[in-house]
Amino acid sequence: MNRHVSDAAPPANSASQSFDGAHGASGADAGAAAAKAAIYDRLAHSLRELIADQTDFLANISNFAALLFSGLPDLNWAGFYLLRGTDLVLGPFQGKPACACIPLGDGVCGTAALQRAAVLVPNVHAFPGHIVCDEASRSEMVLPMFKDATFIGVFDLDSPVLSRFDDIDRARIEQLLQLLMTGTVVPQFRLAPPD
Ligand code: SME
Repeated sequence: MNRHVSDAAPPANSASQSFDGAHGASGADAGAAAAKAAIYDRLAHSLRELIADQTDFLANISNFAALLFSGLPDLNWAGFYLLRGTDLVLGPFQGKPACACIPLGDGVCGTAALQRAAVLVPNVHAFPGHIVCDEASRSEMVLPMFKDATFIGVFDLDSPVLSRFDDIDRARIEQLLQLLMTGTVVPQFRLAPPD
């Protein structure tokens, strides 16, 4: 289940120039959709190479955050919040320093974690309880991450562009997270509450 948070309906052309119109029927829209698919295909290829000989959790999720932050357009933050007890604790990320701890249910990250579901926020200012880490953020997408059906944490992406993320982004990044977790060993201590 995905949760889309409605907002004040930003103009259709306010979305990313690079990724705008992925569902349209025109030639330009088809071109944008193909370009977007090609970006995700390249990211999947790079991720397979990065994790081919490496199963370390910290190494792999660090590279994942860096790969997506550097490979996707119009992001100002990308990274992990990892479950510790009833909190999400900041993990590897790219972007400005962020809040270190988010209780389950708080903000966009805590909502996605509590629901174990993707949350797409076209306009963060319209999301009740949104936690501001970077004033530049306008839209956000948070995806739950699982290892063998066990919830591990969330992957959070922020953009300075309104309505930056759509269902194609969600589906493709969910696939990348599955690929990441398939080749990564999660230490048991990660899942335990802090002492
Ligand atoms: N905006 C998030 C907090 C994390 S930062 O965006 C990096 C939230 O509302 O949960």
